[in-house]
Amino acid sequence: MDYASIYRRSLSDPEGFWAEEAGALDWSKRWDRVLTYAPGKSWTWFDGATTNICGNALDRHLPTRHNQIALIHDSAYTGEITRISYRELHERVAQFAGALAARGVGMGDRVLIYMPNIPEAPIAMLACARIGAIHSVVFGGFAARELASRIADAKPRWIVAASCGLEPGKVLAYMPAVEQAIEISGHKIDGVVVLQRHQCPADLKDGRDVSWDDFVRDAKPVDCTQVPATHPLYTLYTSGTTGQPKGIVRDTGGYQVSLVWSIRNLFNIAPGEVFWTASDVGWVVGHSYMVYAPLLIGATTVLYEGKPVGTPDAGQFWRVAHRHKVVTLFTAPTAIRGIKRDDPDGKFIEATDLTSLRALFVAGERCDPATVAWASNKLCVPVIDHWWQTETGWPICGNPLGIKEMPIKPGSTAVPMPGWDVRALDPNGEEVAPGETGAIVCKLPLPPGAANTLWNAPERWQSAYLDRYPGYYATGDAGFIDEDGYVHVMTRTDDVINVAGHRLSTGAIEEVVAMHPDVAECAVVGILDQLKGQIPLGLVVLKSGTSREPTIVCDEIVRKVRDEMGAVVAFKQAIVVPRLPKTRSGKILRGTIVKIADRTDYTMPATIEDPTALTDIETALRKAGIGG
Ligand code: COA
Ligand code: AMP
Repeated sequence: MDYASIYRRSLSDPEGFWAEEAGALDWSKRWDRVLTYAPGKSWTWFDGATTNICGNALDRHLPTRHNQIALIHDSAYTGEITRISYRELHERVAQFAGALAARGVGMGDRVLIYMPNIPEAPIAMLACARIGAIHSVVFGGFAARELASRIADAKPRWIVAASCGLEPGKVLAYMPAVEQAIEISGHKIDGVVVLQRHQCPADLKDGRDVSWDDFVRDAKPVDCTQVPATHPLYTLYTSGTTGQPKGIVRDTGGYQVSLVWSIRNLFNIAPGEVFWTASDVGWVVGHSYMVYAPLLIGATTVLYEGKPVGTPDAGQFWRVAHRHKVVTLFTAPTAIRGIKRDDPDGKFIEATDLTSLRALFVAGERCDPATVAWASNKLCVPVIDHWWQTETGWPICGNPLGIKEMPIKPGSTAVPMPGWDVRALDPNGEEVAPGETGAIVCKLPLPPGAANTLWNAPERWQSAYLDRYPGYYATGDAGFIDEDGYVHVMTRTDDVINVAGHRLSTGAIEEVVAMHPDVAECAVVGILDQLKGQIPLGLVVLKSGTSREPTIVCDEIVRKVRDEMGAVVAFKQAIVVPRLPKTRSGKILRGTIVKIADRTDYTMPATIEDPTALTDIETALRKAGIGG
């Protein structure tokens, strides 16, 4: 069938469509209903069914694939390559699951995982899934405060951490952040499992910490616990407009069905092939396409620990792709921009045999057409921009290579995937004409795999996503749909920014900046950056009477954000301004500040309280070497 017929069928007969797809997986009990939908309000998929995603990802393949490599860990820092077969992965997961179960962890208990890209991270995730525990992975680049807010919300029984992460030229101890975060959260945990890495073993705290090896030593492997299809597999925290991250809840049954469909039909991966998602287990991309999807179909997944550039150079991605015969690479546009910056002529690509590579997929931020053009010229494979969010769990739009490649339009994320009824609306909720920009929304119910609530916060789910346009899910993105039905995602409609493919809340950064004792008021905005797409910039108004040197205060603010939120926030610059430009009702004109900083034309907002405040901003930005 062609894309158009598949897509039409998914909207006209969603139950028939997804029931057929679900047939590719094992269910210990079949569903009573495929879709349960209370119009405009709530929905669930595969009600009444029971299953286990770990069983589908591992046990199901043992008869046919026990010696096939399931996971390849390739570390640019240590030079080590570890290949784990389906049989070994199954053994290690079942044993870690047994160790958790022996400590009383079971169905519905939360386990927080704070680890870099090492095999033990997916092992811990799959082990939780095996016994029905809910995992919550926190990205290693987040520091104590961010970790603490997630611990406080998820209330995990156990934390599974690595003693350290490796970054270029640095070994970063993880346990100090864990220690501090537990204290800030005020939550009482049962214990911390620490994977001791030889680069920086941690001191274990008596009565609380246990090394990974001791934790699993006497553990008996356990079988899969069958869970309802609607049972949460994981929570994953993402940035919203406030400092309190949103705990996205992922179900089990719908998710596994959506992943199997998408890895085959969008990413075009077949069982036995090698798929490399160059992301981090801490992001949704890592959950869906580094861990679950490749294993669900019996493919081989590559877990890469390193950067696209500097570890040691811009040829590293191509060497890894060659070494493991990767058929599809999925990364963030920022990684390709970094490679292009360091190797503009693509000399490393020319020097590497990449005959196995069939496609490059990019997502996580808008991909500028120049980057698509560069990558497709140098690699000579289709470069597929596709669009999705932590909330959606799998792509909303893309170019379905597994069905048939459609024409590529650089700057567009191509066409909606099955079940995603995408529209662009004006502020009154009316659909805009093709080519006109609007808020991008998806008609309810969302397809299997997408979230349908927030952990501990169903009202926030309703108000953040469903109230604005009744009957639709508001993605928080704006853009347009062209005459051919291609979706172009241009910008966010809220205060979320995207720094090197990492989604961050300017509101959360502002909360930390505002805690500095010399700060009266502040605004954090995302400004253009050649490499990272956007970077945060802080504008601060000092308290009157402060006699301290502004540059010292700014340095302290930068350090505070780094220490409390993490280096990944890339908050490197704060500048002091006499006042912030505001509307007469007191709203900070962040959009206008961004335009000044990005040197784009702006019109004086009609509602501005005092137009000279903008001149002050222009002067301060110019002095700091930012903007016009
Ligand atoms: N643990 C601890 N610290 C981390 C970390 C982790 N897991 N990940 C990143 N950091 C730190 C880095 O060391 C860096 O610290 P620094 O300020 O001391 O240099 C900071 O956080 C920013 O890291 P990063 O965003 O990786 O930027 P970079 O400047 O080191 O590298 C790129 C730039 C473009 C190469 C890099 O951002 C990249 O590879 N991006 C791709 C992102 C991606 O895959 N996103 C997933 C969405 S699909
Ligand atoms: P995250 O939840 O971290 O995956 O971030 C999701 C957000 O990243 C989206 O809401 C978009 O703003 C942005 N994004 C992801 N992929 C794309 C893309 N292909 N094009 C444009 N923006 C994207």
